[in-house]
Amino acid sequence: MDSPTEPGKKKTIVEIYPNIYQIFGRNRSAHAYLIRGLHKNVLIDSCLPDACDHVVACLSEIELSPEDIDLVLLTHEHIDHAGCAPFFGRHALLAAHRLAANKLTMRDEFAMMNKAFGSVTDEFHLDIFLSEGVSINLGNYELHVIHTPGHCSGAVCFYEPNHRLLFTGDVVMAEGMVGGVLQSGNISDYVYSLKRLASFKVDHLYPGHGKISAHAESDIAKGIDRLETLLEESKLLFQVVQNSQHGFDQIVRSLRDLNR
Ligand SMILES: [Fe+2]
Repeated sequence: MDSPTEPGKKKTIVEIYPNIYQIFGRNRSAHAYLIRGLHKNVLIDSCLPDACDHVVACLSEIELSPEDIDLVLLTHEHIDHAGCAPFFGRHALLAAHRLAANKLTMRDEFAMMNKAFGSVTDEFHLDIFLSEGVSINLGNYELHVIHTPGHCSGAVCFYEPNHRLLFTGDVVMAEGMVGGVLQSGNISDYVYSLKRLASFKVDHLYPGHGKISAHAESDIAKGIDRLETLLEESKLLFQVVQNSQHGFDQIVRSLRDLNR
């Protein structure tokens, strides 16, 4: 099996596991993953909106056209992951956790982070709302939805129990990198989500950014350490703000005033 990170490799779509391909994200885009099921083809995430041509070119390398994609599963609502979903949605079903789907269909660009990526998106129509416990049977692979809020409220991971694979989006990456606590996210939820992931048996971790990893257990443990540190630091920051001459209430009032 090829490695997508092997030095000198120019390929941007690589088979990383039998019938599972990584489409390497370029220019700040997240990676997408293509799974050739026995009956249906599934794309996990879809790259930035301006990367649709790149995704189509990658698919053509393995003799697939956009019409061959049956289902797009989104790990969360951020535009570097969901950007090309409307393009594939002309033919494929689009699925995301209800809390991510809500933001996409309402074009909540603050939550989707369009501005951060300088992206404009088409309208989203989500066909399927995912939730914890849903499983998708592709014949050769079975994907279980694990709701993992923290990076944002609607983040999910897809777990394949028979082959011990975990598609994580931005929840946790190689070396325990985490996607940060953004817009609808929460540090405590994030810690809890990673502690849940630590209870799954995982051999291969397929993240939305960076390298794939064969050290999921230590990656997740490092991620928990990072987030617990962040939680402690945020408590200290909260105390400092509370004890400052301005006081927390005044800062909250100022933030409220911004909206007037
Ligand atoms: Fe994200």
